[in-house]
Amino acid sequence: MSTATDLKSVRVADPEHWREGAPLDLFRELSSKCPVHWSDGMSSFPGETGFWSVTNQELVHEVSRDWETYSSELGGMVGMPWVPLDVQNGMFIGMDPPKHGRLKSLFQRGFTPKRIAEHEPDIRTITKGVIARLEGRESADLVTDLAQPVVSRVIGDFMGIDEADDEIWANLMNMLVGGDDAEMNPHGPDSAGDTVIPEIVERCQVLIDARRSNPSDDLMSILVNAEIDGDTLSDWEIVMGFILLVTAGNDSTKATFCSGMKALMENPEERDKLLADPGLIPSAVEEALRMFPAFAHFRRTATEDTELGGCPIAKGDKVMLWYPATGYDEAVYENPERFDVERNPEHQAFGAGGRHFCLGTALARLELRVLFEETLQRYPAMRIEGTPRYATAIFVNQLKTLPVSLDG
Ligand code: HEM
Repeated sequence: MSTATDLKSVRVADPEHWREGAPLDLFRELSSKCPVHWSDGMSSFPGETGFWSVTNQELVHEVSRDWETYSSELGGMVGMPWVPLDVQNGMFIGMDPPKHGRLKSLFQRGFTPKRIAEHEPDIRTITKGVIARLEGRESADLVTDLAQPVVSRVIGDFMGIDEADDEIWANLMNMLVGGDDAEMNPHGPDSAGDTVIPEIVERCQVLIDARRSNPSDDLMSILVNAEIDGDTLSDWEIVMGFILLVTAGNDSTKATFCSGMKALMENPEERDKLLADPGLIPSAVEEALRMFPAFAHFRRTATEDTELGGCPIAKGDKVMLWYPATGYDEAVYENPERFDVERNPEHQAFGAGGRHFCLGTALARLELRVLFEETLQRYPAMRIEGTPRYATAIFVNQLKTLPVSLDG
C-alpha cells in the first residue's frame, strides 16, 4: 500500500495500478485519507491535464446531482483521451441540458421496466441457446463463450443487428472502450479515431439506409423515424445513439456477470445459498453490481471555481467519479470486502442519481438475473480452472478471460 507521501504523487489512472483490475487498495486508502485527490497527469497520455479522483459515495453523489457545476459536455463524460470529444458530445450521455433531456426522453420510452420485462422470454431463449452450445464440452471461457455472445445478441436484437454480425460489433465496441488494453485493442488507443469509429459510422450508415427504406420494430427504426420538436434526428445523432446503446449493451452486464460468477466460485457457501434458494438471485445481482460495477468511472468538468469535500476545484478541472471505490465505501457497508449474496445493497454502479443515471438499469438487472439463473441451473458445480485475467483499462472494469471447468 502507498504511504501518505506517495498519495500526493500517485497518478490514479496510470496502467501500473490497473493490471489486476480496479486498484481497490489504492481506492481504499484514497477514500479514507483523501476522497478528493489530485493526480497531476496520465503517464500514458502525456498531453493530458491532471484530474480529481472522487472516491466516496457522499461526494460522488454531490457531483452527480449538480450538472450545472459539473458538466458532462464541456470536456466529455469519460476520461478516455482516445475517444474524440465530438464523439462523446454526440451521445446524450455527453450532453448537458437542454439537449440531454430532449434526446434522453426519446430513448426512455423503449427502456421502461414494463417494456423491458416483455423481453424476458427472448433473453432467456438467447441465454439457453448459448449455454446449449457448450453441451459436450468440459471447459469453457465464461467471458468469450458465454457472456459475450449472450449480451451481444440481446442488444443486437434490440437494435436490429443481424446475428451473423454480433461478433464484428462486439469487437468494434471492445476496441473503442477498451482502447487502453493491448489485447482488447491491439492497434492501440489512437486507432479509435483513425479506424474504429470510421468503421462503426460506415457500418451504421448501412443499417440506417436499410431502415429508411424498410422500417421494422427495432430501435434503429425508431431512431430513424423519430421526431423531436418537429425535427428528425440527423444521421450523426442516430449513429451516436447507436454507439451509446451497443457499447453499453456489450460491455456492461458481461463484466458484472463474469466477476459475479468468479466470486460465487470463490465463495461456494454463497453459491450454495443461491442454489438452495434462487429467489436470492436478485439480491446477488445487486451485490455483484456493488463490488463489480461494469464501468470504473464517468467524468465531469467543473463549469466554475467551486469546492468539493474541502478541496478547491477550478473552472475547467476534470473530475473522475470512481465507482469501484464507492462500492467499498466503509461509511456505507459493513465488511465491504465480503461478497454476501443476501446483502441486497444500494450502490452507485449505475451512477449516483442525477440526470445521467443509467438508462439501462431494468435491462441490465433482467439480463444479469437470467444469466445467473440459467448458468447456475445448468452448471451448479462450475469451477475456475486456470487464471482469470482483467482488462488493464480505466473505463471497462471487466475480466477478459475466465477459464472454467463446466461440471466441476
Ligand atoms: C451492469 C450494467 C450497467 C452498468 C453498471 C451501467 C452503468 C452506467 C453508469 C455509471 C452510467 C452513467 C451515470 C452517470 O454519469 O451519472 C450509465 C449511463 C447510461 N447507461 Fe448504463 N450501465 C449498465 C447497463 C446499461 C445497458 C444494458 C444499457 C442499454 C443498452 C445502458 C445504457 C445507458 C445509457 C444510455 C446511459 C446514459 C444516460 C444519460 O446520460 O442520461 N446501460 N450507465
